This record gives sequence, C-alpha cells and structure tokens, in this order.
Amino acid sequence: MGEVVAVDIKSPREIEQMRVACQMAAETLLLVGERIRPGMTTEEINTLVHEDTVRRGAFPAPLNYKKFPKSVCTSINDVVCHGIPGPRVLRVGDIVNVDVTTFYKGFYGDTSATFYIGTPSKEARRVTEVCRRALEIGIAQVKHNARLGDIGAAIQEYVEGEGCSVVRDFVGHGIGRKFHEDPQVHHFGKRGSGERIRAGMTFTIEPMVNLGGWEVEIDPIDNWTVTTRDGSLSAQFEHTLLVTQHGAEILTQRGKTLMRSENVATVYA
Ligand code: MF3
Ligand code: CO
Ligand code: CO
Repeated sequence: MGEVVAVDIKSPREIEQMRVACQMAAETLLLVGERIRPGMTTEEINTLVHEDTVRRGAFPAPLNYKKFPKSVCTSINDVVCHGIPGPRVLRVGDIVNVDVTTFYKGFYGDTSATFYIGTPSKEARRVTEVCRRALEIGIAQVKHNARLGDIGAAIQEYVEGEGCSVVRDFVGHGIGRKFHEDPQVHHFGKRGSGERIRAGMTFTIEPMVNLGGWEVEIDPIDNWTVTTRDGSLSAQFEHTLLVTQHGAEILTQRGKTLMRSENVATVYA
C-alpha cells in the first residue's frame, strides 16, 4: 500500500486557466511537428520552442528547472527522456520525442510526442505506435472513482502484450500551479490498487515504452539524459488530463493533426 496523499482538486476557475496553459503547450508541439526535419539540430528545436512560448507571453518551464539548461526536452532513439538540446543533428530514420511544458499565468501545461525523421524503420514505427496506443489506453481508464493503479495496469498489460516494456523509473504526475505535484501516476501496476481518482484532479500520463528491457541509465556527466540500458529504441507520448465524472478531458488535445507523427501512415506509406 502506498502513502495516502492529498491530491489537489482544481476549481472551475483554475481549470479554465489550466485549459489555456495546456492549449499553448499543444500549439507549440503542433508547430514543432510542422518544422521538424532531417538535418535540423535539437538546438534549433529548442530555439523554436523557446521563441514560440515567449511570443505567447508564457515561459518554457524546463528552463532552469532543477538546473535543466534548456527550454524543452529532445530525446532521440535510445534516449528515454530528458534529452538536452544541443548540436546533435536529426538524421533520416531517427525517432525523437519533444516534450513541451508551458507556464502561463501561474499554471503549467505538459505534453509530448515522438516524431519520425524521414521514413522510420519497422522497429522505430513499432515502438512509437505501441507507445501512442499505450497513452490512449491509459487515458481510457480515467474517470471519477477509478483507481490510479487501473491506469498503470492497463498500460503495462498492453505494452508487454506487444513484446515491448514500460519504463519504471519515471512517472506521470499531478500538475497545476506546480510543474510536478501529487499524485504519481505509474505506467505499470495492479488493477484496483492505488488512490481513487476524483473529478477535478489534473495530472499527466506519459508512458515511456522501450523496444527491449525497461531498465534505464542516467548520464553521469550531464545528470539528465536517460537512456535504455540495452541500447534499444524508446518512445514517449504525454498529455495533461482533467478528471471528469465520466472520463477525462484531454487538456493538451491538439486541434490539428500532429505532422510527422500522427500522419506517418499517409506521409511515409
Ligand atoms: N516535461 C517532463 C515531464 O513530463 C519533465 C522535464 S523536467 C526537465 O514531467 F527539467 F527535464 F525539463
Ligand atoms: Co510530465
Ligand atoms: Co513533459
């Protein structure tokens, strides 16, 4: 049994402010999808996200968060999460997760997707599409009075059934006036376990799926970059959600198709 934690219930006014911050993050991610290209550096993605966020009158939450040095996380191939933008060039065949967190008028919105750089290998497509579906399956568990463990169990069952694995070391999280607040949302676990989810809670689900084993390592030099221990490919998708009586409202829902990710079937078929 885990600790009982007090999870914040957002007021209607706070929820409206969350919607605004989350929609900004969603729109910045859409912009990344329109611009991301082979030959681009991850530093250029950082500049794009930074400038688009600031242009909206918002702040890119990763910048200086626990000394993170950049405005967005860019995680390529075997990088699981928390990749630091820099001179690395995106190559045809790479998959890259871009994780955008926008802070606007006191509230955070957090969303990420994995993009295909050129035509993906069969393996790259598999881990990415399993992860995309894992997030949908997790979201489908969310409703008033469900349990947190239902989310993790559903994700783990699906991902392992597909022969992939779920990273254990990083979790989804409550979000609102703080970037990371209670509860922790595990992407693995037992149905019926954990605290009850209540209408008005806002949290992320953000499964990291590996093609090989679930074990990860943190770069001992930069103390941020997380890679798969076995060097296998890893993908991630993230949404910020509001719990409602009968389900979830996806606060970071996109109004358009995410280019170079959701359109892969038509673009690269
Ligand atoms: N956006 C990540 C998450 O989904 C957290 C990144 S923390 C950073 O929770 F410092 F690396 F930006
Ligand atoms: Co998050
Ligand atoms: Co994030």
